[in-house]
Amino acid sequence: MREGTTPLVRREDYLAPAYWIRTADLTFDLDAAKTIVSSKLAIERNSALPVQPLRLHGEDLNLLRVLVDGQSVSFRHEDGLLVIDAPAADAFTLEIRNTISPEKNTQLSGLYASGSGLFTQCEAEGFRRITYFLDRPDVMAVYTVTLRGDPKKYPVLLSNGNLVEQGTLDGGKHFAKWHDPFPKPSYLFAVVAADLVAREQWVRTRSGKEHLLQVYVTRGDLDKTEHAMNSLIASIVWDEARFKLPLDLERFMIVAVPDFNMGAMENKGLNLFNTKYVLASPATATDTDFDGIESVVAHEYFHNWTGDRVTCRDWFQLSLKEGLTVFRDQEFSMDMAGSPSARAVRRIGDVRVLRERQFPEDAGPMAHPVRPDAYQAIDNFYTATVYEKGAEVVRMMHTLVGRDGFAAGMALYFERHDGQAVTCDDFAQAMADANPASALAGHLDIFKRWYAQAGTPRLSARGTWNAEAATYTLTLSQQLPDTPGQSGKQPQLIPVALGLLTREGQALPLQLQGEDAPQGTERVLVLTEGEQCFTFTGIQADVVPSLLRNFSAPVVLDDGLTDADLLVLLAHDSDAFNRWEAGQRLALNRIKAALGHGEAVQLDAPFIEAMRSLLREPGLDPAFKELALTLPSEIYVAEQVSDVDPQRLHTVREAMLDQLATALQADWTWAWDEHQVAGGYRPDAEQSGLRALANRALAMLVRAATLSGEPVWPGKAYQRFKDATNMTDRLGALEALVGAHHELAQPALERFYALFRHDPLVLDKWFMLQARAPEKNGQVFAQVKALLKHPDFKLGNPNRARALLFVLTASNPAAFHRTDAAGYVLWADKVIEMDAINPQLASRFARSLDRWRNLAEPYRSAAREAIARVAAKAELSSDTREIIERALQ
Ligand code: PHE
Ligand code: ZN
Repeated sequence: MREGTTPLVRREDYLAPAYWIRTADLTFDLDAAKTIVSSKLAIERNSALPVQPLRLHGEDLNLLRVLVDGQSVSFRHEDGLLVIDAPAADAFTLEIRNTISPEKNTQLSGLYASGSGLFTQCEAEGFRRITYFLDRPDVMAVYTVTLRGDPKKYPVLLSNGNLVEQGTLDGGKHFAKWHDPFPKPSYLFAVVAADLVAREQWVRTRSGKEHLLQVYVTRGDLDKTEHAMNSLIASIVWDEARFKLPLDLERFMIVAVPDFNMGAMENKGLNLFNTKYVLASPATATDTDFDGIESVVAHEYFHNWTGDRVTCRDWFQLSLKEGLTVFRDQEFSMDMAGSPSARAVRRIGDVRVLRERQFPEDAGPMAHPVRPDAYQAIDNFYTATVYEKGAEVVRMMHTLVGRDGFAAGMALYFERHDGQAVTCDDFAQAMADANPASALAGHLDIFKRWYAQAGTPRLSARGTWNAEAATYTLTLSQQLPDTPGQSGKQPQLIPVALGLLTREGQALPLQLQGEDAPQGTERVLVLTEGEQCFTFTGIQADVVPSLLRNFSAPVVLDDGLTDADLLVLLAHDSDAFNRWEAGQRLALNRIKAALGHGEAVQLDAPFIEAMRSLLREPGLDPAFKELALTLPSEIYVAEQVSDVDPQRLHTVREAMLDQLATALQADWTWAWDEHQVAGGYRPDAEQSGLRALANRALAMLVRAATLSGEPVWPGKAYQRFKDATNMTDRLGALEALVGAHHELAQPALERFYALFRHDPLVLDKWFMLQARAPEKNGQVFAQVKALLKHPDFKLGNPNRARALLFVLTASNPAAFHRTDAAGYVLWADKVIEMDAINPQLASRFARSLDRWRNLAEPYRSAAREAIARVAAKAELSSDTREIIERALQ
């Protein structure tokens, strides 16, 4: 473990490596207690730089020997590096032998034990925990890997590339030798040694080549791999069709790992996955789980080009591969969803994640640009900003150059940089060069400020209608908030997609002053300055502007629209995203008003009627209705106000839900009756939309019934819980009971546990469901504390820790933020406890108090005290220390 204060690594200090590693020949004598790693590297001096010592990264290694060209050589350890004075030759062979202990590796970085198998995780800096190396992404080598081990414990031996040899050895061991022809950085290296079985499928790609696809899991899980395999095949087909990017490997493997810090990892040809993103059957996985698998399988597969074939020069460029690959997986999921409304539903989901995770990050102590300038622990920068905001930056480019222009930009990017380690600038340049007439090319420097400036821009829009001239002038302006270490920012390029509606809801043709003819009813304005005016002609009556359609830029919009305007958009906007947004804003206005007055909410008839007619609207997508009838989350609302009182916010929102449940009871009954799925389970957009709306209706009906003491709907929910043939409906019914604190919730939870106690992923849901239940008199918090002592709770298993603890602190504000500070005490204890086991996990968990400064008293002071208590610990990892120190700055 790295301890103490680690110095900052700065982007501006980048230097090319002094040496290249051309080939790496690795042999592993595998054993959980002690694995011997023998490495033989062909090294060349970088002749562009002055001669200097060879400095190799290494962490938690036990070094046995070092040879240069077969001769022993003197070396020393300096600042955690292994230093060898410059060998005389410009090219030489370095041989190193060391041991490591996978079973002691609780950080899950490097080679570690999970279940009865051994697995690696090398991104970002895990390879140095396997052997000494130039562990940086711009050093790319061709790997040959020999794995030796006990065939009973480790019948399956995998590494990147192609299997070139296998057989038995003296002493009862067996071996496998793998060769990966593609030079790759060490972070893409992987090894698996475990008792696994695989679902296999041969596919033929457009070139006519045959490829073997494999999904490896433990024995009992083979029947849960069909969806992952189908998702992989769909991803291969999609990348060839949309971007002409073919599968370049003879063999592509996915392996499910029960203990995994993240979602999955794109190692070349050997993707390692959190079991959560592989295993699914209708009985054990929800629609959301099926969607998650589809998008993560796609994400990792797409990395094969955007990440592996073209990689990052240094870790500051992380968004080069992550932002782009998230954009690609979002587009894939939208294309898979099919209909325009299903696409909009996906878009709304993506924007919700952005606003609930990235916007708070951008407003808090960890705010950093999409391309960060400095870090202590790179693991702390696998963030919503690098991933989700990075994807929005790519999406804006797509908006500016169009679908074909974007494909041309991608083609040029690969033409220029295939096989290289490059920067975010290289990507933006290729996009601009392929589209010389675009606004992107015309304002590239302004656009690239998205990579350099942190913080969420505020976009203000005010329109005035001039009756005499029949014009409508829209004034757009932007403000860029200061963020830690950054102030006095420059304007960014903001694409504003818009339409103008009459008050009756009709879309108007859009003609800007100086143009000969209208250009449709929707267009994109490009704001590049602090303030700009745009005048539309031929506007005969006052209008309602529909701005930032489909969320065309990751900004906070202030358009000054009244409730009356929002009701027009909610009823008529052709842009589904903005329809949804109008409903959310109407709800938000009511929540804010109640918070401001300190009074109980009394929902007004126009709002309730608008919700009712949306719910009843014929032909409208049920999945969309479900989203539109969901109130903004407490996390989202908390970001819209200052001095948040999480308890008061929870009370207000729950009261609103009670009223929506009661006022629309007949409509919820109708919704439940009309949205039952007929036929066998399919996890597609259509069926999952029906289930989502029916489950929402059920939750509202159980809520209303619990308020009035009426037993029928809770009884129905319990029945549905027992009889459901798929996990979405079973969990939906259970959640309806738990969410209403109905007395049937407890027996249902017990039954659920008895049914699924042997399935770890389903057990995670059981923990999660209890941790995210709406708080009532401290019961939820008390239950979480009790569950921490449950025999099935394991802090060292990231999925389990996330299910219980992260859900409490990051997703259940009212259970976590207590006036007695017990939530913060628990948080501090667990940060410290987790940090000793797994610093990456602990530092993520620590971030749930990032926004403490936005809390009202007494929460704010109590949170600060808890953070200070963690900061006072001398033996904190550098990962956690960085988060804690930033929080206090
Ligand atoms: N590169 C992985 C992905 O997004 C994420 C990851 C990062 C996994 C670090 C493990 C460790 O696809
Ligand atoms: Zn990724």
